[in-house]
Amino acid sequence: MSRPACLVTGSSSGIGAAIVRQFAAQGYDVVVHYNAGAERAAQIADTIRAEHGVEALVLGADLSQPEAAFDLVDRTLAHFGRLDVAVSNSGVANYVADEQGQLVRYRFSDTPVDHLAKEMDRVLSLNLMGAYRLAQRALKHMMDQAAQEAAPLHRSILLITSISDIAPESTRIPYGVSKAGLNHVVVGAAFDGGPHNITVNALRPGVVDTPLTSRPSGVEDPQSGREFTVAEIYGLMAAGGSQPIRRIGRPEDIAFAAYAFTQIPYMTGQLIAVDGGFTLPGNFPNRDVFFQEGLRQRQSS
Ligand SMILES: NC(=O)c1ccc[n+]([C@@H]2O[C@H](COP(=O)([O-])OP(=O)(O)OC[C@H]3O[C@@H](n4cnc5c(N)ncnc54)[C@H](OP(=O)(O)O)[C@@H]3O)[C@@H](O)[C@H]2O)c1
Repeated sequence: MSRPACLVTGSSSGIGAAIVRQFAAQGYDVVVHYNAGAERAAQIADTIRAEHGVEALVLGADLSQPEAAFDLVDRTLAHFGRLDVAVSNSGVANYVADEQGQLVRYRFSDTPVDHLAKEMDRVLSLNLMGAYRLAQRALKHMMDQAAQEAAPLHRSILLITSISDIAPESTRIPYGVSKAGLNHVVVGAAFDGGPHNITVNALRPGVVDTPLTSRPSGVEDPQSGREFTVAEIYGLMAAGGSQPIRRIGRPEDIAFAAYAFTQIPYMTGQLIAVDGGFTLPGNFPNRDVFFQEGLRQRQSS
């Protein structure tokens, strides 16, 4: 029997690269998918072949384009003759270039009208529609495979969404909308997949140290004068108690969970945070700040 096959979108970088390595380490043949990072994807595939002895097929696709996700799933199946796990991981933040070419995003209430549509198009076309189409095609192919088996194998679809589906932040509402939309894809598709032994779940990472979070934060380090990255800001907040596990995530944390979630035959339609406890109910990270502010207001009233 051939090895199981796994497609991971956006596996040329960050979380996706760690996920594809994790599946290869567990004996899966894999697709390393890229958009702009052809060279990075080729290097990751070379390392996977050398370290794990499995097949690593490198495929490029801009998944914000209407037919691209369908085509990517079809090419995976045509090559391996099977598809056991599909992980939709490609995603972007809602930064859009302004007239000066600077990547910007605004507080919701301050967003210029033309920017409003552009940033929404950017995240919806990839984060939502790309993942939506990928999940639909993967599910269809998995159901066709299951129909040919007396006792269908367990197959799995995992969408990498985000805790931003619920965690509020005025400057990233479009991103949150694109991720929250996928939650409904998961709970709906679980009903189609279940009878065929196909599980469909969402993994919702908290802040993870990747190229996505290595962008400048706009906040200066008072010690060095250097601008913090987004990952550094959240790292300091975590160390200071914003979440029970006092560090931000590593790509390998998410990869470990992604592999585990796809191996559980009796779990489907779930939207699971892997976030160090950041979104725990009752986790009031700023309670000391709020307490001090409440005291200050009482004293000045
Ligand atoms: N990092 C975090 O803190 C965090 C938190 C919650 C959720 N997430 C989610 O986790 C996923 C991975 O994020 P990451 O942090 O690993 O980011 P990353 O390092 O920037 O990787 C993003 C991946 O998406 C691919 N991609 C970008 N545009 C694409 C397009 N048009 N078509 C197809 N693929 C495209 C990139 O491919 P190329 O590089 O080849 O262009 C890359 O492989 C995203 O869905 C993100 O929303 C991340």
